[in-house]
Amino acid sequence: MLFPDYRPRRLRQTEGLRRMIRETALSVNDFILPLFAIGGKNVKQPIPSMPGHFRLSVDNLIQTARSAYKIGIPAVMLFGLPDKKDPLGTQAYAKDGIVQRAVKAVKNKLPELVVITDVCLCQYTDHGHCGMLDGETIDNDATLDLLARTALSHAKAGADMVAPSDMMDGRIAEIRGCLDENSFSHIPIMSYAVKYCSSYYGPFRDAADSAPQFGDRRSYQMDPANALEAIREATMDIEEGADIIMVKPALPYLDIICRLRDEIDLPMAAYNVSGEFAMIKAAAEKGWIDETKVMMETLIGIKRAGADMILTYFALEAARELSK
Ligand code: PBG
Ligand code: ZN
Repeated sequence: MLFPDYRPRRLRQTEGLRRMIRETALSVNDFILPLFAIGGKNVKQPIPSMPGHFRLSVDNLIQTARSAYKIGIPAVMLFGLPDKKDPLGTQAYAKDGIVQRAVKAVKNKLPELVVITDVCLCQYTDHGHCGMLDGETIDNDATLDLLARTALSHAKAGADMVAPSDMMDGRIAEIRGCLDENSFSHIPIMSYAVKYCSSYYGPFRDAADSAPQFGDRRSYQMDPANALEAIREATMDIEEGADIIMVKPALPYLDIICRLRDEIDLPMAAYNVSGEFAMIKAAAEKGWIDETKVMMETLIGIKRAGADMILTYFALEAARELSK
């Protein structure tokens, strides 16, 4: 196919032609909206580095969840900010913990909205690490039981799906076993299987107050330089019982999404994380980019790379754009 016989521009001349040969489409069905739950009533604390996002008390969180549901977003992902933290993160698996209360309330008012819960300890531990500590090192195996208890408590509160984001080895098998033993074999696990140790999580850690108090997460989250390891992590989680595999962050790891799409046959999610959101918001605020267009281009890029669903703080805005 050589010029002048082949002229790629022939099929780009009108919007009608472009629509006919378009390979990828974004849909409101692709989006999952992350939400931050906090105690109290009528609380709506703005998150400075995430314009348009708030820490919401359960009453207000229901309003935002309702907006998402009404516009057709199928699912939300819940994160919690507990009233108190301790070394074992006990509020993560407390029956009346913040996520447990939020799940119950949302499912009560919006039974058809899919409620996914983030399963991790870092928002609940006073040291801010995703696992239990033994001195200053993470005790992987001792953490597994706490993660399983957290997932089970979310399922008991009514969560439709649990999403472990801790990156401890063996947690998917532990959580799957625990859910199955307790009559929750129908609850799927979305595994943050390929989660890189990323500086793009900065705004989220402010939002969720979950920054580690010492050290960093390099001993459990993946090295950004590694791609083959992503295949091993994903394969391992699938063998342990994961139903959906997530890659996180999305933009610097589109190659990973693309590679995994060829390697695995499970549904795949990508997390367009807080820093990716904040960068677009900040540049748009300065008038340097067209926010809506960059948002849509970013999301289609993630989809084109191979993601079946996208966790994104743009979910509501992008859904509004698609419904125009
Ligand atoms: C907690 C968790 C993090 C995110 C989701 N779950 C942060 C972290 O690992 O420090 C990041 C989400 C985002 O940046 O939007 N384990
Ligand atoms: Zn964590």
